Amino acid sequence: MSDNFLKFRDIASHDIQAVVDRASEMKAGALSDALAGRSVAILFEKPSLRTKLSFWVGTQKLGGNPIYFGPEEVGLGKREPVSDVAHVMSRMSEIVVIRTFLQSTIEEFASNASVPVINALTDQEHPCQALADILTITEQFGSVAGAKVAFIGDGNNVALSLGYAVVGLGGQLTIASPDGYKLSNDSLDGVNGYGEQLGGRVNQVTSPLEAVVDADIVYTDVWTSMGQETEAAERLVAFAGYQVNSEILDQASKNVKFMHDLPAHPGEEISEGLLYDPRSIAFDQAENRLWAQAALMEKLV
Ligand code: NVA
Repeated sequence: MSDNFLKFRDIASHDIQAVVDRASEMKAGALSDALAGRSVAILFEKPSLRTKLSFWVGTQKLGGNPIYFGPEEVGLGKREPVSDVAHVMSRMSEIVVIRTFLQSTIEEFASNASVPVINALTDQEHPCQALADILTITEQFGSVAGAKVAFIGDGNNVALSLGYAVVGLGGQLTIASPDGYKLSNDSLDGVNGYGEQLGGRVNQVTSPLEAVVDADIVYTDVWTSMGQETEAAERLVAFAGYQVNSEILDQASKNVKFMHDLPAHPGEEISEGLLYDPRSIAFDQAENRLWAQAALMEKLV
């Protein structure tokens, strides 16, 4: 695989299953000291609970030392040029984990860094979430290729990385979004071009009910992502009718599982209490961030 994990397709398709399998082993207790004597710099320009905690704890589980910089601290590209920060961090840490806005910022950072750089969410992709998601789907269904996945909501960073992850393992994903909030044609062509040789495919539809027919997984994410707060009111209107609730899950496969990358907004993209529905595996998904990212970091060093 590439030295960096800036977008999901940086993992060679033959490495995806290996990382997922290694994550399962780690979850079962087979850790390593891959990060002993190494430091992981974690630089976030947006809020985080799961990603910060999972990178911090995952680094420590592999014997490494995490150092966290919050949104107000570094001033990436403002207080100091992105390239200078990349050079400095490369001199004092062995992996850099970044959560930022523009994909171009993390690409610029990586092109100036001499250590592996991991995307912990940009406006365009959330590849670490997708790695944890395919681990979670594999735990439930044995394989991703054998599971039918439906994503209801915004054609956003989570949807795009999920698309690459599912098709990378030969699976099928149907995304239901209102017009104006679908994946762009370029993104859809990109993910389907990648999936073509691997037997996987992403379809886009408008109707949530159409997407969930026979679905083994129904997945959703927030309607308003970090950085889009000024659009919140218009998004509430646009996504009315896209809530995942018990009635929607009842239309899917009998053994359907519900997934959400969190944080969730009950009353918006999910109904009250849905995270605690027996069909929900959202907290398995959250825990799996830890194991998927630990396996990723081990692979990168
Ligand atoms: N799409 C969401 C994911 C949060 C983990 C966002 O970018 O805010």
